[in-house]
Amino acid sequence: MIFETHAHYDDEKFDEDREAVLGGMQEAGIGRIVNVGSDLASTKRSIELAHQYPFIYAAVGVHPSDVGQLNEETFAWLTEQTAQEKVVAVGEIGLDYYWEKDVKARYDQRYWFRRQIDLAREKQLPIIIHSREAAKDTLDIAKEERIGDIGGVVHCYSYSVEIAREYLNMGMFLGIGGVLTYKNSRVLKEAAAYAPMDSLVLETDSPYLTPVPNRGKRNSSYNLHYVADALAQIKGISREEVIEQTWNNAMRLYRMKE
Ligand code: NI
Repeated sequence: MIFETHAHYDDEKFDEDREAVLGGMQEAGIGRIVNVGSDLASTKRSIELAHQYPFIYAAVGVHPSDVGQLNEETFAWLTEQTAQEKVVAVGEIGLDYYWEKDVKARYDQRYWFRRQIDLAREKQLPIIIHSREAAKDTLDIAKEERIGDIGGVVHCYSYSVEIAREYLNMGMFLGIGGVLTYKNSRVLKEAAAYAPMDSLVLETDSPYLTPVPNRGKRNSSYNLHYVADALAQIKGISREEVIEQTWNNAMRLYRMKE
């Protein structure tokens, strides 16, 4: 079975057929899914989905683009949610300089990234990092905050081999998704080839980042088979080996015993 380590089934793009999509997962070989919060509302819905479906787990966190929602009061609420049943991580958290050009807003992103790292440390949960066009600042904070002591994954990894080496040295996992199937993803393919097989996990970021041959359509975990194939090709191993190894990695990442 495939372990989907990062999806957003609370997204409105699934409002019309969510039950049908999730209902077919087990049969399609998707054994487990972590639904990742990206703001306060989606954190709440992620927990609800986890309580509704036995194979779904939840991550609670606020994405850098939405940290405007955070203040002491909402942060206290977020802190409480980490105690909910089936919450396995704090995320997605991090920095996104692609969407945010404003200096003050970027400062706020860094502030709340650190606060949410502290939260994960306090609750002994791994973190799910989102980092886009912010490689240096993300890495600087990761080092200063000693995230190697906390553990977690750099989701939708998109940076170079050199930066991959830094995160791997900290014991972090790299999340590999649909981008691996794109023709122009040379940098990611190099990083995936470089990283040891026991440091990689599969993810879709559904409904976004749909792999070839379904690029342009809404993404779902069904498409993970294409990502597994692409990774198998790069690593020179079978699809089955990729699926089994990444399952075991995801279990270690989210500290699941069974
Ligand atoms: Ni995401």
